[in-house]
Amino acid sequence: MKLRRFDRFAARQFLKRHVPESKPAELGQKIEELRGRLYDLETKPKNERIRIWNESSGLLRAIQMRKPALRLLEEFFRHVQLKPLSRALFLCTGPAVAETFVASKFPRARFTFVDFSERMHKLANGIIEQEGLKNVRLVFGDIGQIPIKEKSHDFVCAFGVSLPQLEDSRLVRTAREMISEKPDARFAMEFGRPVNIPLQHCMRLIESKGFEIEKNIPIYRTILKDMAFDVYFTVAKPAQLRPKTL
Ligand SMILES: C[S@@+](CC[C@H](N)C(=O)[O-])C[C@H]1O[C@@H](n2cnc3c(N)ncnc32)[C@H](O)[C@@H]1O
Repeated sequence: MKLRRFDRFAARQFLKRHVPESKPAELGQKIEELRGRLYDLETKPKNERIRIWNESSGLLRAIQMRKPALRLLEEFFRHVQLKPLSRALFLCTGPAVAETFVASKFPRARFTFVDFSERMHKLANGIIEQEGLKNVRLVFGDIGQIPIKEKSHDFVCAFGVSLPQLEDSRLVRTAREMISEKPDARFAMEFGRPVNIPLQHCMRLIESKGFEIEKNIPIYRTILKDMAFDVYFTVAKPAQLRPKTL
């Protein structure tokens, strides 16, 4: 199938509308503050995690950066095609800046955005309303117990995934449960890995939940307080279930 052309100009304009401009020094400080809040997050009880994400929604919104978001969108459109009427599930959508741009470019596909933070959904809803998108529904829910009955999505995706989230395994396990078994179904993920952690480790975490890695594209390197992270865009397909032996 022909890939949709990436409209760089439209993406830039979209990001200008929804990503606040910040000075590098301010940005660095805010990123540090957020990292401090999220430290050890995945080991905390669920209510605590929701409270922290709710309280961090403004901060997360403030540290969205136009340039990396543009790179992510470029790779997304280079490697992903959604058919009209495709059902796409986006997990942990937060303020959903990149996610809503994708939805705006596939107006005939149907999108479900899942996040467990009410305040994050409020930010996402602001963009959806401003852009007049009719093909997105927001669902509150924990990715560990997702409140969605239909399980055969053509496309499952998560942007902005951290290594602890990947190691926790709920996200990838849920992606595998919610994806269709059709040969063209795909799971895509943007994730960041501290450079001292082998990439193989991250790939194994995805494969061990029943996916076959198809593409793994390094998209940028970022340095947060002396620590370098490589950010990737990864595309995987559901590994075929082995036929049962008689
Ligand atoms: C790092 S943000 C990523 C947001 C967005 N995808 C992006 O790239 O900017 C992580 C988001 O995941 C949500 N989240 C974290 N754990 C979750 C869980 N167990 N269930 C549902 N949402 C969760 C948080 O509320 C937050 O909005």
